[in-house]
Amino acid sequence: MSQNSIDSLLTETRRFAPDPAFVADRVAGPELSERAAEDRLGYWADRARELHWHTPFQTVLDWSNPPFAKWFADGTLNVAYNCLDRHVLAGNGDRVAIHWEGEPGDSRSITYAELTAEVKRAANALAALGVGQGDRVAIYMPVVPEAVVAMLAVARLGAVHSVVFGGFSAESLRARIEDAEAKLVITADGGYRKGKVFPLKATVDAALEGETSVEHVVVVKRGGNEVAWTEGRDLWWDEAMADADLDHEARGFEAENPLFILYTSGTTGKPKGILHTSGGYLTQAAATHHDVFDLHPETDVYWCTADIGWVTGHSYVVYGPLANGATQLMYEGTPDTPHPGRWWELIEKYRVTILYTAPTAIRSFMKLGRQIPQGFDLSSIRLLGSVGEPINPEAWVWYRDIIGGGDTPIVDTWWQTETGAIMISALPGVTTLKPGSAQVPQPGVTIDILADDGTRVDPPNGGLLTVREPWPSMLRGIWGDPERFVETYWEKFRDQGWRYFAGDGAHVDEDGDIWLLGRIDDVMNVSGHRLSTTEIESALVGNPMVAEAAVVGASDETTGQAVVAFVIVKQSHREEHSDEEFVQLLRGHVSQAIGAIARPRDVYIVTELPKTRSGKIMRRLLRDVAEGRAIGDTTTLADTSVMQIISDKLRTGA
Ligand code: WTA
Repeated sequence: MSQNSIDSLLTETRRFAPDPAFVADRVAGPELSERAAEDRLGYWADRARELHWHTPFQTVLDWSNPPFAKWFADGTLNVAYNCLDRHVLAGNGDRVAIHWEGEPGDSRSITYAELTAEVKRAANALAALGVGQGDRVAIYMPVVPEAVVAMLAVARLGAVHSVVFGGFSAESLRARIEDAEAKLVITADGGYRKGKVFPLKATVDAALEGETSVEHVVVVKRGGNEVAWTEGRDLWWDEAMADADLDHEARGFEAENPLFILYTSGTTGKPKGILHTSGGYLTQAAATHHDVFDLHPETDVYWCTADIGWVTGHSYVVYGPLANGATQLMYEGTPDTPHPGRWWELIEKYRVTILYTAPTAIRSFMKLGRQIPQGFDLSSIRLLGSVGEPINPEAWVWYRDIIGGGDTPIVDTWWQTETGAIMISALPGVTTLKPGSAQVPQPGVTIDILADDGTRVDPPNGGLLTVREPWPSMLRGIWGDPERFVETYWEKFRDQGWRYFAGDGAHVDEDGDIWLLGRIDDVMNVSGHRLSTTEIESALVGNPMVAEAAVVGASDETTGQAVVAFVIVKQSHREEHSDEEFVQLLRGHVSQAIGAIARPRDVYIVTELPKTRSGKIMRRLLRDVAEGRAIGDTTTLADTSVMQIISDKLRTGA
């Protein structure tokens, strides 16, 4: 975050007390925190018992080998059964689970009974292809109901899914398939985005060239685009489903059976495969979805706009809402297709009551103007959520006023791929809201702000956000790399009793409310997506024309941060293109290597990079230039004239 937005956070004084009508009908009150404060493990055991267990657990937490936690380890359950069969057996089979809307305007409403039947069939189809407990299945799909069916079918078999966001390149997909040694890939021919079909199957084909662990590719028909076919390896989803048995009995798996791997950017070039398991994950995803969104499953229509390729799509599109028997909206496309009011039209059409989205989306709607949402009936909205990055108070107030009609509570939820579920958020109808603050740890979650040396930081000073005690939905490891797991998250505050180090800066105010201040490491947050500076730098230097590259996250009005790259072209290639051509080529190169989300907003072709005498690139100075600020202290540079040369060049474009 820029200094300006931090300053405005620190001076924010607006307060919004809960509305009495909301309080009267809330699903979660202060009693939850009281219970958790008295007996934290007992509290989590209560929440876990809200699920269906094939075999009840006796032990709650095993923390005898930190930082490797086990929750509810002697119990068994089936995650898919909890999201499906359970609701049908309780008499709610006719309730709509998913109202799905495709970008071109086609739609489907699927009840819990129908979704259960589809998942049973899909589980049989996958089992017939040899998928069993522990096998990894990669899912590379648009936001269509089959993506949810695929995830749940994998879960039902006790296998492990690795969903890869459909915007990632073939190279990124291949790296993830290889790391997890996936046996099967589920994809679609293509999906709709911005009025066009984007191909997915072709990217899978490219990712699987040469040696691979993948035996089969199952293809959902969605885009209708032409696809290449590898006989014996590829099969259509519809045909596999048509051949499959209808009935499938869900068996119980151990609570610690792996449920999914989800790759996220870290501080090095290699993405980390974050591993989540079953019982604890589902417990916290369901409990937080229920409490934080004040879910009334009989009447609410909930909409989380995240793609299933991100953790928000896992916990708050698939597992949390379905475990709670919620009715939700899923939308395939972009917010501005075919017109900039598409989201508001959908809210009006489905009478959405709860909307969960990201600050970057809110800021881009603000830019378009309030007239667009005001052209639709948004009166069904009664709760708003935010996730992915700190929300600036201006966007918060606009969200409440324009989308929420001036009186709707907003929950700003802080969490991470690693935490699996919401950790810090207001409880609506309980917490007095403060724009810009994520506010309070959820019941059963303990947070401390520590200084670099492990001492506690007192309000109002800032420090590092840590989690004091294990929580049910915590990551269980990094796939195939236990050392990196320990080193990244636990080593730093090991002597403070193995506290989890989140990588975010934060401070607590006098009331105990938590304010997030952004990442403290080389991870950027672009439109709520995590990107690693190192990963983009290595993509750039992977281009044969590039000698050196440095990447920074510069603050951006809409996307929060934007990728800005400083690149030195090799002497031998300098004459081949003009600077503008290099810029276009290199932006395209990053898209190709990682995916369009990583494409730099700006590329500057320079002849030097600012380095310390020990050769470390001083990104802080590059960020100053990228954000148009006066350049900070350059005295530690090996060559102090470098920054002058770079900023002169940027200013004159010479
Ligand atoms: C940031 C997304 C401030 C934070 C669920 C975290 C936030 C990273 C918030 C995780 C929030 C997420 N306020 N910052 N409400 N929510 N973040 O893994 O820096 O994609 O570490 O998980 O996003 O991003 P991830």
